[in-house]
Amino acid sequence: MSQPLAHWLAAAVANNGLDLNLSGVIETIAAACAELSGILRLAPIAGQTGLAGHTNVQGEAQKQLDVISNDIFIKHLRRNADISILVSEELDEALHLENQGRFMVACDPLDGSSNLDTNVTVGSIFSVLAVDPANPDLLQPGTRQLAAGYAAYGPATSLVLTFGPSTVCFTLDDTGTWQLSHDALVVPASSGEYAINTARERFWDAATTDYVTQNVAGETGPAGKRYNMRWVGSMVADIHRILMRGGIFLYPLDSENLKTGGRLRLLYEANPMAMLIEAAGGSATTGRGRILEVQPDDIHQRVAVIVGSKDEVERVNALYARQP
Ligand code: AHG
Ligand code: MN
Ligand code: MN
Repeated sequence: MSQPLAHWLAAAVANNGLDLNLSGVIETIAAACAELSGILRLAPIAGQTGLAGHTNVQGEAQKQLDVISNDIFIKHLRRNADISILVSEELDEALHLENQGRFMVACDPLDGSSNLDTNVTVGSIFSVLAVDPANPDLLQPGTRQLAAGYAAYGPATSLVLTFGPSTVCFTLDDTGTWQLSHDALVVPASSGEYAINTARERFWDAATTDYVTQNVAGETGPAGKRYNMRWVGSMVADIHRILMRGGIFLYPLDSENLKTGGRLRLLYEANPMAMLIEAAGGSATTGRGRILEVQPDDIHQRVAVIVGSKDEVERVNALYARQP
């Protein structure tokens, strides 16, 4: 099955009507992720771990590798004349590249950076949208994404990708080539695994509390089956597990993050993950509606995220429907 990304994209252009320039945008992002993977592997030797000494627009302390990752994305995207705009977690404002291309990329250059110094899987998340470079609309709902994906820097380096109809996974080989490793990922409809930061329990709403209480009750509760809990602290790693074997990931709105609209960012965390999960047969909701239909009003807008196996997301939706 193994096939280099460039061949797979060329076949999609020839046979499935994939836009040639869009395929070039994906090759550009894939090259950025491949370079970043090499840097992350050697960062502890190169002295690139630890804090950068400043905070980003989200008020978060930037790690050196957050800054390096952002710079790598900018360097690669600049080389592609089809990309005119970059929205990044690490940049206060949208960056207008010199190019007049018709694509915009939104990215979280390094997701899970609190795990960096512990050698736990981190990732890069990206979303590709069409824009008019003369008058770009930066605030498009996720339904308008042309492509989305992430790289996971773990025991293997994975590139997970969708253009809408399906979700596929490539693995970086030791020549630096992305090779197709999983064709058409499918998120099983049911699962006994959930991921949520339970240390936030005292802030939860009734729907979240009820869902987790039912899971903890296992076969003795209304869910009628045993559950297990997993929380990596890198969304990329938690979502990768769900794409591979099912489960649900929740970062709901709670009484503490209510004022910011949630924890995770819509344009470059929630929307790309929602597109990948839906294309693999799963569901993605805020508890009150489909993530992909949320109309952004800010490039760094945050949103509630509940994604994964259809039956589990449906149980959460039903609990929200009971909550005023
Ligand atoms: P980032 O490192 O890009 O700021 O994102 C971290 C996110 C996400 O990866 C993860 O699921 C979540 O924050 C972890 O939140 P907690 O700190 O509440 O565990
Ligand atoms: Mn992130
Ligand atoms: Mn990040």
